Parts: sequence; structure tokens; C-alpha cells
Amino acid sequence: MAKLKIQKLADALGAEVSGVDISKPLSKEDLGEILAAWKEHLVLRFRGQELTDPQLLEISRNFGEIDPPGPNSYGKPFIADFPDINVISNIKVGEQPVGGLGDGEAVWHADMTYIDTPPKASFLHALEIPPTGGDTAWGNMYLAYQALPAHLKQEIKGRKAIHDATYNSAGMIRKGMKDVTDPREAPGAHQPLVSKHPESGLPCLFLGRRRNSYILGMDLDASNQLLDELWAHIDNPEFTFTQVWQLHDLILWDNRCTLHRRDSFDPQSRRLMHRTQIKGSPVIPFE
Ligand code: SIN
Repeated sequence: MAKLKIQKLADALGAEVSGVDISKPLSKEDLGEILAAWKEHLVLRFRGQELTDPQLLEISRNFGEIDPPGPNSYGKPFIADFPDINVISNIKVGEQPVGGLGDGEAVWHADMTYIDTPPKASFLHALEIPPTGGDTAWGNMYLAYQALPAHLKQEIKGRKAIHDATYNSAGMIRKGMKDVTDPREAPGAHQPLVSKHPESGLPCLFLGRRRNSYILGMDLDASNQLLDELWAHIDNPEFTFTQVWQLHDLILWDNRCTLHRRDSFDPQSRRLMHRTQIKGSPVIPFE
């Protein structure tokens, strides 16, 4: 029987897990090794995993309780039989999109940090992929925090920012939300700019997404300037791993200490991903 193997994918973060059929119940030893690798590498890739939706849900439950997807732009779950599965796709049946985020760029973000208790983890499973484009990158926010210049660490110490709930990472407005023109009035959770990871206890830069973010207690221009500096800092290949998808790749990431983004792809091609997420806990400020 193949032995479980962990191989680094990039210096910053990411590892490949091989020698395991994740569609079958995991042994205690294999699950232990996977959890340890996840803690070390933050993003794990399992290649060649052809999974049904119930299997994807079952695998996800190894990591905690399933967290249902946030509201999408269309107001109802994409898969009626499996409302806990989110669909990321540009495919339409007639005029009806089968999933969210379309074919454009999805900007840097962490999932659902606009609520007080964002998910701790997400799984993304590739069911159809375009011939090129649609790559997804993850950034290590432990590293990003460590590498911040001392003056920026000082400026963000103890501060919180609004994580806007209005728009998704493709810039679409969420169902029931109104357009926001002044970030100070954006609806959404107030999260510390530096969080303490609940398991490692280490500090991470915790930014959510740039659009409509606002650092509480600051003048709006000063807040925008500081946020622009922080976002320019994180957009650095030294902190990232980029995934070029293969069919039936399954990726798991830690949503508490990473950000992710996705490249655009040819609208004439098809991309279909099924996603689950795992319930987290309130974000802890690093003091
Ligand atoms: C996401 O932001 O959750 C989706 C990323 C992707 O489509 O690769």
C-alpha cells in the first residue's frame, strides 16, 4: 500500500499530499499526518481525487463542522440537494449561472471575514478546468506580518478595520446589500489588523479584502493610504504559492492565516469547482 507523502510546493506555503485515497475513510495516523502538514504548510493539495458531493462533505468533516456558504448574488443555494456546497463557476444553463465568481479575476481575499466568526478552512475541488488561466494563488499572512517594516507594525498595532460585506471578490454585490460609497459606513465585522492564530498563537496580518476597508478611528485618507501600503506589501511572490489546476485537484487552505486570489480565464471555456468550508471561531487580536 502507498505510504502518505508530504512534499513542499513553494517556499512560502503549500504542500502536496500523495499516497492517500482521500475518498475513503482516513486512518487515524493518516489524518494526524495531514493535520500536522496543514498546520505547517497552510495549503494542502491532493491530486487525482475524483469525488462526489457527499464524499467532499465527508472529507471536509474530518476538519470540523461544515459552515454553510455565505449568501451569493442569486439568493439561493447553487445545489438544492447540497446547500452546504458552494459552486464557483462561469457556466450558465440558459441564462442561469450554476455558480458564482464568473470568469474574471477574483481579487485577494479571505473567505467571509465580514462576519464575526469566519470559516477556519475551505476546500476547493476541480471538476472542470479551462485549458489555460483561472490559476489560484495563496499568500502566507504569517510571513507577510513578519516581513512588515517596523513602522508599519507600529502603525497597525491594536487597530481594527471594517471588513465590508457588500461585494464578493469578483466585485458583485451580495443579495440584499446596497452599494457602498463611503467605506466608513460599510456593513461588516470589525476585525483586528493583526490576528492571533488560535492554534499556533502566532501573529498574522488579517486584511480580508481591500474594497471598502476602513481602519477604525483614522481619517479616511490616512486609512486608505495605510491600507494601500499593506495591500502592496502582501502582493509579493515571496509570500505566495500559485496553483495551476489539474482536473480533480482538491485544495484545502487555512482561512485564518492566508489570503487567496484567482486569475481570469477565457469566457468561452468552462470552469467548475465545488467548495466547502469549515466553521471557525471569532478572530483573536494579537496583543
Ligand atoms: C474562491 O475565491 O474561493 C475561489 C477561487 C477560485 O476560483 O480558484
